[in-house]
Amino acid sequence: MCHNLSKYTPIFLFLTLSGIIFLLRNIHTVENWNCQAISSFYQLQSRIHSSLSVSAFYHNHTYCTHVGQKPSPEDELEERYLLELISWPSPPPHSGPTTLKQTSDPVHSLFTILPAKEGREWHVGDQLEVLVQMHDFQGRPKRYGGDFLLARLHSPELGAAVVGQVVDHKNGFYSALFPLLWVGSAQAEVMLVHSSEAVAVLRRLREERADRVFFKSMFRLGLLSETTVCNLCLPPDHQPLCNYTDLHTGEPWYCYKPKVLSCDTRINHAKGGYLKNLITNKEALLFKSGVNLKVYIHASGPDKISVLPQKDKVEEENSTTKPEHIQLETSGYYYMDSWRPLDGFTMRQFNESSAVVQCLKNKVINMYGDSTVRQWFEYLIGFVPELKEFNLYNPKKVGPLMAVDSTHNILLKYRCHGPPIRFTTVMSSELRYISNELDGLSGGPNVVVVLSIWSHFSTFPVDIYIRRLRHIRQALVRLIDRAPGTLIVIRSANLQALDQEVSLYNSDWYSQQLDQVLRTMFKGLNVLVVDAWQMTLAHHLPHALHPPPPIVKQMIDMLLSYVCPERKKSQK
Ligand SMILES: *[C@@H]1O[C@H](CO)[C@@H](O)[C@H](O)[C@H]1NC(C)=O
Ligand SMILES: *[C@@H]1O[C@H](CO)[C@@H](O)[C@H](O)[C@H]1NC(C)=O
Ligand SMILES: *[C@@H]1O[C@H](CO)[C@@H](O)[C@H](O)[C@H]1NC(C)=O
Ligand SMILES: *[C@@H]1O[C@H](CO)[C@@H](O)[C@H](O)[C@H]1NC(C)=O
Repeated sequence: MCHNLSKYTPIFLFLTLSGIIFLLRNIHTVENWNCQAISSFYQLQSRIHSSLSVSAFYHNHTYCTHVGQKPSPEDELEERYLLELISWPSPPPHSGPTTLKQTSDPVHSLFTILPAKEGREWHVGDQLEVLVQMHDFQGRPKRYGGDFLLARLHSPELGAAVVGQVVDHKNGFYSALFPLLWVGSAQAEVMLVHSSEAVAVLRRLREERADRVFFKSMFRLGLLSETTVCNLCLPPDHQPLCNYTDLHTGEPWYCYKPKVLSCDTRINHAKGGYLKNLITNKEALLFKSGVNLKVYIHASGPDKISVLPQKDKVEEENSTTKPEHIQLETSGYYYMDSWRPLDGFTMRQFNESSAVVQCLKNKVINMYGDSTVRQWFEYLIGFVPELKEFNLYNPKKVGPLMAVDSTHNILLKYRCHGPPIRFTTVMSSELRYISNELDGLSGGPNVVVVLSIWSHFSTFPVDIYIRRLRHIRQALVRLIDRAPGTLIVIRSANLQALDQEVSLYNSDWYSQQLDQVLRTMFKGLNVLVVDAWQMTLAHHLPHALHPPPPIVKQMIDMLLSYVCPERKKSQK
């Protein structure tokens, strides 16, 4: 390997000049340097350091939460409220199933449209209730709740669909409640996403195995490079750490200190990988596609009703059968394959790129977040030929990205959110927290801010997400205060395709919990929401992390309608 030493002259020169520090610091490492090591430095190979095998996340939850700034008493109170809000029933600890046979089985489970007897008339404005009874693989009724079910009501011929709200009666029965919003046929659909037993596994992973996705950074000085593991918190007693805690927000971030190089030589951040063998063989049976993972539950009788036009007002008022304790939070529905918000706001359709240009004229649109909002950037530059992507020489999937239409004075920008982010490689210099970016915005009536932050937090305990959103919310409040005309739009989480592996890191169950936190935390603030959750759940196209173009079009139409509301009916 060492037969062409002259090739290595530059490296020996470099080592002579700058190596003394390393010699003093790390005599034993340098002693081991041989031709092979030097040649690998020469090739600038990023060697995965031995520290990659060290536990990548500090499991002490308390430590993780309070690393950085201590939350105020109000913040702690809010956090407790939020965690209570998303609390999910666990299978009973003792009578819990010992075999797969005793877990929820969608094939043995059934749903029934209520009332079960024939002859009920349905009108627009009524609420439809569907009762689901879960059974196990032996056909025995389940006696406890916690299954993760999704429900939708739809009419393919009308291009109509709406999500149902699922209520867990915690005894094996569930209700799915649907508002009746169109005249004609309406077919109910109920899906088991995960059994309660599977949810228990997911919950345990979230609390105990926050290291199941890990991150890495490369450190480089001259021709030397080292790579170490990074995460939100690392065990402080294993090895020296580099502390990259953000000084403005207090958002924590750590890497193991490289053996030779110093902490300020970090050049990038990347997804390290996904830990395997997280669950036992027995637990793996709870995550079988086509068996108990995203499987439809059948109806015991008819699954379809026929909806008549709305009754007159007086009659309607006393025929309401809506249970008092249930509040439907349906944000919209599809009709003729187009999304219709239910809050009185009208969604416009932007079928022509000229309409988009007209709407975005003289606007600066700042998109921040994960790949689900990057998808919006990509959609817009694909749809609007006038919007030319500016080459910033950044990786397409990472950014920052920028597109310009100088004729119409439109600027569209995208930047990913700060760590944890599982993108391939983000340069350290481009790692920014959304709240800090927002603090750097002047804002104003020509400025639009679009946020999407959810997917990269699903492997962590929820309090970490709450803290991140709190920082973003504080920055948004400051932005709204100094520039009241700034339009702020939040894209919620969406459903995605799940198999066993994806479930353990990115299950819809995790997303749904984060999404509830997000909605609650931004309620009452002057921000608009594009309900990606309901738009993907109601739609007939398959769930996908990056939803198919027809759904993205609905989301973009919604975004643009917020930016350019219909003149007469505009409310927001
Ligand atoms: C977790 O960390 C906190 C703060 O450092 C410490 O007080 C607590 O004893 C630790 N808990 C466990 C289980 O190690
Ligand atoms: C990391 O730095 C932050 C901010 O300076 C500090 O509050 C925190 O205690 C440090 N963490 C550790 C483990 O030293
Ligand atoms: C509905 O309410 C009105 C008055 O509020 C009453 O006169 C009428 O009888 C009620 N109709 C039914 C069907 O209960
Ligand atoms: C947009 O396209 C849809 C589907 O082709 C059509 O139904 C709708 O009327 C169009 N809207 C406008 C404003 O052109």
